[in-house]
Amino acid sequence: MNREKCTAVVLAAGKGSRMGTKIQKQYLEICGKPVLYYSLAAFAASPIIDEIVLVTGEGKTDYCRKNIIEAYGITKVNKIVVGGKERYESVYKALREIEPEGYVFIHDGARPFVDESIIERTYQAVKEYRACVAGMPSKDTVKIVDENDFAVNTPERRFVWCIQTPQVFETALIRHAYFKLMENEENEKGITDDAMVVERMENCAVKLVEGSYENIKITTPEDLILAESLIKKRN
Ligand code: CTP
Ligand code: MG
Repeated sequence: MNREKCTAVVLAAGKGSRMGTKIQKQYLEICGKPVLYYSLAAFAASPIIDEIVLVTGEGKTDYCRKNIIEAYGITKVNKIVVGGKERYESVYKALREIEPEGYVFIHDGARPFVDESIIERTYQAVKEYRACVAGMPSKDTVKIVDENDFAVNTPERRFVWCIQTPQVFETALIRHAYFKLMENEENEKGITDDAMVVERMENCAVKLVEGSYENIKITTPEDLILAESLIKKRN
């Protein structure tokens, strides 16, 4: 049966400033393999995904090709794109490079625990809703604060989710949203995820889909300890 093309955009052009290591966090090793390897391997192994576009920092293209893609035999990587200063700029640069058909799975390369069940759930949802993101209900109570860190509001916990990736869209929809966003270059954008771009630019509701509490993003040093134990548990 014919089905629409699915592209995974894996983002690895960040600086990793909160990790504070000399080697950027996406290239640090957990259980002997680079952080970035794990998500690339998950998308390469998925029967849903047809191609991968990897987004890396300036000067890192050859490093990624040699030390990750070739070293671990990662398939489906059709393009390596140099990212931008902010995450949304990296996404935009990748979206310019893909055809406007089918679906795109935008994923943080710093999130090694995406798996086939998350890819499958988001794929089913995007076919129905056009735009969906993986996430999980917040375990903690969340408070909105003012500039001086005084609590001003406590949203009902039932309605608070923590957002993960993949964030999955009809490719034409997310491309249209991003192209519109980037038209005005002076704008202070404050964009921290892709769903925001669709919410702001298109009249389309974004569906939240269950990711997993293991689908963590490697952000600060303690995340590496947690990631090591999650990988050991898997093996
Ligand atoms: N990312 C990217 N291009 C950027 C910024 C981020 O491709 N200009 C990627 C990162 O490599 C990461 C993902 O987006 O895989 C999520 O971003 P984040 O966790 O914020 O990573 P960094 O920006 O690298 O970290 P920090 O914010 O601590 O500097
Ligand atoms: Mg960042």
